[in-house]
Amino acid sequence: MITVIGAGRVGSAAAFEILRYKLSDVVLIDTNLNQAKGEALDMMQASPALEFDGTIEGTNDFSQMQDSELVIVTAGVARKPGMSRIDLMNTNAKIIRSISKNIVKYASDSKLMIVTNPVDIMTYLCYSETNFAPNHIFGMGNILDTMRFRSHIASELNVSREDTRALVIGEHGDFMVPLVEYASVSGIPLTNLLTTSQIEKIIQKTINSGSNVIKLKGNTAFAPASAIALMANAIITGRNRVMSVSTCLKGQYGQSNLSIGVPVVLGKTGIEKIIEIKLSDNSQEKFNASVTAIKTAIAALKNN
Ligand code: NAI
Repeated sequence: MITVIGAGRVGSAAAFEILRYKLSDVVLIDTNLNQAKGEALDMMQASPALEFDGTIEGTNDFSQMQDSELVIVTAGVARKPGMSRIDLMNTNAKIIRSISKNIVKYASDSKLMIVTNPVDIMTYLCYSETNFAPNHIFGMGNILDTMRFRSHIASELNVSREDTRALVIGEHGDFMVPLVEYASVSGIPLTNLLTTSQIEKIIQKTINSGSNVIKLKGNTAFAPASAIALMANAIITGRNRVMSVSTCLKGQYGQSNLSIGVPVVLGKTGIEKIIEIKLSDNSQEKFNASVTAIKTAIAALKNN
């Protein structure tokens, strides 16, 4: 069973993806009981058309997460136009601290996926509050950045998005690091296909992708939900997918005492392995800036 905490726009859309892909039954928890129940009922009524037999239960009772294989945390306030993810930090920290207590109480054997922003800081906070094994807790952010990077590469070249391969690491925010040296189209290095200035334009578009959607419709939902489902699929089916997720480093990449996006193998036990790759000088410099941004934010976390 998968529990999704937070039945707002991202949590509900993610729960629906999980049901559609027949990954698992879902418990959808929100402090707003009507919201959780309403979303769950609405989804169940879609099941004959989409032909899924899984069930979803909407509730405000945290004990319902008992025995979950995976808990996905999407509860918290979201960005408004003009806000950065870091602006949400202290409000969402309070919510994450209270949810962490319930997770320890009811689902201490689960794997934990944090989505609430700023995701790297919230993942590290949740790790500190729950004391989960570092491979059992991870944040969703860079996989979404990677999907956006791939989409922009495909548009620029007018090729299928399916044929693009890329990795974005670092902070899920303005300091993200799209790795040009590892981007390709069906194995052809990106640098063989595009000029430096075209690539730089794509990187800027990738960084601004979320803000541009928020400017237009006030929130993002479909792309984050698809990214959540991709990660959930890797864990539930044990497919050992290689993707970039926010993880608490213990000396890898020369770092510790933070959670940051790096490539990992994601499978049945959560993070099966952290993959250490060589970065170009430019990417290393950007990654160091990401580390500084995250560590500065962690240091500014209020103990509320
Ligand atoms: P939303 O406002 O639509 O939903 C948030 C939900 O959380 C609300 O239904 C609210 O009642 C619930 N909630 C608040 N406190 C709670 C608690 N203590 N326990 C249970 N439920 C609680 O927001 P939306 O758009 O769904 O975004 C949710 C979070 O996800 C935000 O922090 C947003 O920034 C983040 N996000 C992260 C992404 C990523 O890539 N990591 C992508 C998109 C959003």
